[in-house]
Amino acid sequence: MTVGSCLITGGAGYIGSFTALALLEADYEVIVVDNLYNASPEALNRIELICGKKPAFYNVDMIDQKALEDVFSKHPAIDSVIHFAALKAVGESGEIPLEYYRVNVQGTLSLLAAAAKNGVTNIVYSSSATVYGDATRFPNMIPIPEECPLGPTNPYGNTKYASELMITDHINAERAKANKAGKSEDAAKWNAALLRYFNPCGSHPSGIMGEDPAGVPYNLLPLLAQVATGKREKLLVFGDDYSSHDGTAIRDYIHILDLAQGHLAALNYLRKHSPGVRPWNLSTGRGSTVFEMIEAFSKAVGRDLPYQVVDRRPGDVLDLTGKPTRANNELGWKTQRTMEDACQDLWRWTKNNPEGYRQQPPKDLLDR
Ligand code: NAD
Ligand code: WQD
Repeated sequence: MTVGSCLITGGAGYIGSFTALALLEADYEVIVVDNLYNASPEALNRIELICGKKPAFYNVDMIDQKALEDVFSKHPAIDSVIHFAALKAVGESGEIPLEYYRVNVQGTLSLLAAAAKNGVTNIVYSSSATVYGDATRFPNMIPIPEECPLGPTNPYGNTKYASELMITDHINAERAKANKAGKSEDAAKWNAALLRYFNPCGSHPSGIMGEDPAGVPYNLLPLLAQVATGKREKLLVFGDDYSSHDGTAIRDYIHILDLAQGHLAALNYLRKHSPGVRPWNLSTGRGSTVFEMIEAFSKAVGRDLPYQVVDRRPGDVLDLTGKPTRANNELGWKTQRTMEDACQDLWRWTKNNPEGYRQQPPKDLLDR
């Protein structure tokens, strides 16, 4: 017996695959669409190795509305959508902004239209802390609450913000239409969760499922992992002249399993309540500096990892810690794992899968 049926876009990617696993473990039927631009279908095999179930999969480009409609038609039980598929590299978004708008904004549009045509009214959207921009420009906004004024500072962030606005306008319009027709029950069916998350990291504790980006990583922990395996000589620390206790910048690192559970909690909430459009931060509420992350990951690896302090990275800010109180109280969700757990899990995944999903899963881990 399944409890519901959910379409996950970008479900072969990092956060999407862990969310697909969480939903399958909670007895949802899961249908994944992904064009594998930054993912491997092997992620879906690893999901099956862990939970004994595999999502249905369709290789579909998000901007192809007709292909999305076909997926809905093939799975009439789909009653909700979690939308991850997107391009996500901040720097690259400044070089090819139109491509970011095409995939991230037009992709959201195609999905909303296809979902609406098929009567699917619950949308969970993968937003980002990036929509807040530099919250340190306001007094008393760290840790960042959902009420913090939005102000993304790069094209990637603009596309996430634009999608939030599109989803909000769409849901509000459908609710208004149904209310005007005197169908308040129908109005209440249109809901969206805007999940703004901070710095996702870590891997599955089994060591067989993790982040496997195509190309060069640009986030702190995947880069540190490359230093540990010798693929990279040292980590460049972007600035030690911030006003934190050790001079390096502060971020809110959330374990990928906690993040996946946050999506499940939001989905369950939308199916039981009728919040309309509601943003929730998915964060730990606890900030860590770059030096603290280097120390924690070095401890997981068992030796000191080399680094060199260089200038600040343009666009970086002192502190991006999120306030998770709203999600804690309303979704009944709270992070269970620490960034130290994430470092240990990431190292287990990295050392056992040096080629990521391009290799077979390590036999000794499977036999456990
Ligand atoms: P990811 O690249 O691993 O996942 C994105 C998935 O979308 C990939 O599987 C990719 O193949 C797919 N995709 C890309 N273009 C597509 C297209 N045109 N059609 C169909 N599929 C396409 O990235 P992730 O880290 O898992 O991020 C997932 C979502 O979370 C994104 O929307 C991202 O903006 C958001 N997010 C990520 C972070 C982060 O630091 N990882 C933080 C906040 C928000
Ligand atoms: C973390 C910290 C760097 C690399 C980005 C996006 C954000 C969201 C999450 C999607 C910072 C420092 C990093 C390095 C370093 N993504 N650092 N040396 O910038 O907080 O957030 O990913 O929505 O939108 O902007 O993450 O992992 O790049 O950096 O010193 O080689 O590590 O300065 O303080 P960031 P990050």
